[in-house]
Amino acid sequence: MGGRSLLEMLFQQEGLPEYPLPPGLRSMYGGGLGFQEPVLYANLVASLDGVVTVPGRAHVGSTLSAHSSADRFSMALLRACADAVVIGAGTLRDSPGSLWTAERAYPKLASEFSSLRQSLGRVAVPQLVVVTRSGDLDPSHPALRSGPLVVAPEARAGDLRGRLHGATSFLTYPGSQLDWRWLLAELKSRRLLTVLSEAGPRSTGQLIELDLLDELFLTLAPTVAGEPADGGRGGFAPGVDLLGSGAARARMLAVRRAGDHLFLRYQLQRPAQQRSPANLTM
Ligand SMILES: NC(=O)c1ccc[n+]([C@@H]2O[C@H](COP(=O)([O-])OP(=O)(O)OC[C@H]3O[C@@H](n4cnc5c(N)ncnc54)[C@H](OP(=O)(O)O)[C@@H]3O)[C@@H](O)[C@H]2O)c1
Repeated sequence: MGGRSLLEMLFQQEGLPEYPLPPGLRSMYGGGLGFQEPVLYANLVASLDGVVTVPGRAHVGSTLSAHSSADRFSMALLRACADAVVIGAGTLRDSPGSLWTAERAYPKLASEFSSLRQSLGRVAVPQLVVVTRSGDLDPSHPALRSGPLVVAPEARAGDLRGRLHGATSFLTYPGSQLDWRWLLAELKSRRLLTVLSEAGPRSTGQLIELDLLDELFLTLAPTVAGEPADGGRGGFAPGVDLLGSGAARARMLAVRRAGDHLFLRYQLQRPAQQRSPANLTM
């Protein structure tokens, strides 16, 4: 690993926290990366016209990013920093064969990611957290065979315990609607303080609406996805009216570039009067 830069830094806010990245990772990333903990940060890729999901198509992120190796590297580095990676069941179902680890995203630098995790005191791979309401999880999915934490309604837990791999642990919630604040507090109580969301839009919209998402890493891919007449494609916060109830404000923290792709890092916050008093700043 020489001093090759995969991403070129165009802007970075002064004074951001920095983890001790191995020199090779730092030069590939075009500068430092770190978080003030506890933190919840999301990583998404969008087309130029704001599309993040295409119903019925697997591995949408790779399609939208045009299989960008810089995007895969950035995804891997963000995973390498995380104590836990949270996804919704929709993302799991549309990502057959996926594992939410750094080395899966960018195998060439597996040993550098592992060194970073060791120096941060992280275990070998982030804890995968899968949120479901329906319990519609395929027990043969490889990500469900390596000790995930499945977050499910109490009413579904018995069936899931019988079907899923023995290494699975469970968190159950009453009714059918997970309270994301409760989940993040549970993760915090397990010392999972640096949490990456790789969930899809339905979860991301809720996290933003609840003002739980601290940072957004958004890869803007040089793709125009369009929208067929029967719809279904869309942005990363469907189902929540953030303009009507106080738009989330984003403060730019960093901008990187790799070829025609832009890698944007924003801090997110909703106006104070719109936040619930029960909000945990996780
Ligand atoms: N462009 C990108 O960067 C990117 C990133 C991630 C995902 N995606 C794409 O997004 C698509 C999936 O979208 P999605 O919005 O369905 O993904 P998602 O948010 O990861 O999953 C949604 C599912 O999570 C569960 N869930 C979410 N909030 C819940 C709550 N409050 N209470 C109970 N359960 C809850 C439900 O599971 P059940 O279905 O079990 O009820 C829900 O259907 C996939 O095509 C994926 O590839 C794109």
